[in-house]
Amino acid sequence: VIDTKTKLIALIGKPLGHSFSPRMHNENFIKLGLNYYYLPIEVKKEDIGELIIGMKKMNFVGFNVTIPNKIEIIRYLDEIDPLAYKIGAVNTVKITNGKLKGYNTDGDGFIDSLEKEGKIICDHNTFFIIGAGGASRAIAMTLAERRIKKIYIANRTLDRANDLCEDINKNIRDCATPMTLEDKNIQEIINQTTVLINTTSVGMFPSTNETPIDTTQLKNSVTVADIVYNPPETKLIREAKAIGCPVVSGIGMFINQGARAFEIWTGMQAPILEMRKSVERMIIERQQ
Ligand code: ATR
Repeated sequence: VIDTKTKLIALIGKPLGHSFSPRMHNENFIKLGLNYYYLPIEVKKEDIGELIIGMKKMNFVGFNVTIPNKIEIIRYLDEIDPLAYKIGAVNTVKITNGKLKGYNTDGDGFIDSLEKEGKIICDHNTFFIIGAGGASRAIAMTLAERRIKKIYIANRTLDRANDLCEDINKNIRDCATPMTLEDKNIQEIINQTTVLINTTSVGMFPSTNETPIDTTQLKNSVTVADIVYNPPETKLIREAKAIGCPVVSGIGMFINQGARAFEIWTGMQAPILEMRKSVERMIIERQQ
């Protein structure tokens, strides 16, 4: 029951109709008997400032920010977590006594799912990331903060991979190398890789019959991760499985970024297994 004591959490972005977050959080607030409500609010970029003023006057304890507002939101914050600052994007905000603090849980959420589902330990390992957009930036920067050995970033547009690697090498540490998807050494580099990660939208509905690289380049010692979760099993993941590669699907990253946000807002441990069940139910319903 929503009452005057209900703590509100918003999701800010546009469009939000397909987001799994509201149900994933609300079902579990109810299960845990927590008086919280997660409310999706579709808002234009130019209206974010006024929305924040309103939220401060209401019972909002925080919010998620999604595409296309993860960068725009930074100007409204009072404080920013150092990792989110380096990434240059925020997906989770906590409101305390009218002050806003921003975090980025995307990279850590991804690494949580690699560790838990892929049984991967990041330390001393080599990563091959396809894509150099916002999602790649969060994951690559977060990995660079850990004790990984090396990150290769392969992108269709070399300039963006160059910029991202330069940022990582300058602001975190010297561990990133840019390349194109047609690089002549790509096969050799994939052979040395522990984890290959797709951060592009290739394979996402409706382009479900595409893969971001030619999968004949994979061998079964490489763990293959995809951040795409619609469909839950992309063509990349399906073909990697057939080769015998361990795989990590995008659902885990989605759930774990939400779990970390839950912990920031509530200070409690997130019910990750239950959150996964909520998401799996939504996926099945959507397929019907
Ligand atoms: P996000 O914030 O979701 O990462 P983005 O910043 O728009 O989104 O980045 C999209 C990434 O997917 C980029 O690396 C993009 O490559 P370019 O930098 O060359 O645009 C990549 N991408 C999207 N569609 C692609 C396609 N059809 N083939 C290869 N890469 C693609």
